[in-house]
Amino acid sequence: MFDPAQWPIRAAWYLARRIRMEVARCGICRLALSGGRTPAPVYTALAHLDVPWGQVVFYWSDERAVPADSPQSNFGLAKRTLIDRIRRPPAGVHRIEGEQSISEAAAAYDRQLESPLNIVLLGMGDDGHVASLFPGAETSCTGPRAVPVLAPEAPFERVSMSLSAINEAAEVMMLVRGAAKAERVRDVLGEIRSGTPLLPAARVSPRRRLTWLLDTGSAGRLSH
Ligand code: 6PG
Repeated sequence: MFDPAQWPIRAAWYLARRIRMEVARCGICRLALSGGRTPAPVYTALAHLDVPWGQVVFYWSDERAVPADSPQSNFGLAKRTLIDRIRRPPAGVHRIEGEQSISEAAAAYDRQLESPLNIVLLGMGDDGHVASLFPGAETSCTGPRAVPVLAPEAPFERVSMSLSAINEAAEVMMLVRGAAKAERVRDVLGEIRSGTPLLPAARVSPRRRLTWLLDTGSAGRLSH
């Protein structure tokens, strides 16, 4: 866990190193970016680090049903804080078309998610949701890789990677900061440790590596 002031740059350093390692391993890094507010300073820091952007393909963990230029757009956030600032164009950008109906956007994105991703970044809501997979919603471990979602909180209409698509990834990094999430982090890690994963965040189980990038706030309720 990192000091809150250091958290963005330390998370960006870790992510940059993992991207370089995936490119060295596979020749490409298919990277899904998270939405929400937490990752913005990480993306800003990442834009200045040594990353082989020409071998990185961008995807998104989820998107709201809003146009790309909406302040609520997860694509728009990444474009402003990262994609418009990197020194070389990426190998590809597969955004979720928030301006379409969620069923059409999900079907189109499902066709783009044609192979397992290398790295998926996820935030976590106070309720333990990840991407747009909320507690109580059906999160089957099979089926399409992209699903339309009616979320319990605004923006209500969304498209999300499915749990199966997230868990197909080689690595997932959980970007969680702030004391407000400390109790839920404790609950989720407790569910994982006890082998009884109920909350969506506890059901994230990628093929090779799951990394929680916490600050001292979000880690504040962990006993060790
Ligand atoms: C979204 C995100 C969502 C987010 C969490 C945490 O589209 O909102 O994908 O899953 O990561 O809700 O949001 P904050 O980072 O704003 O706390």
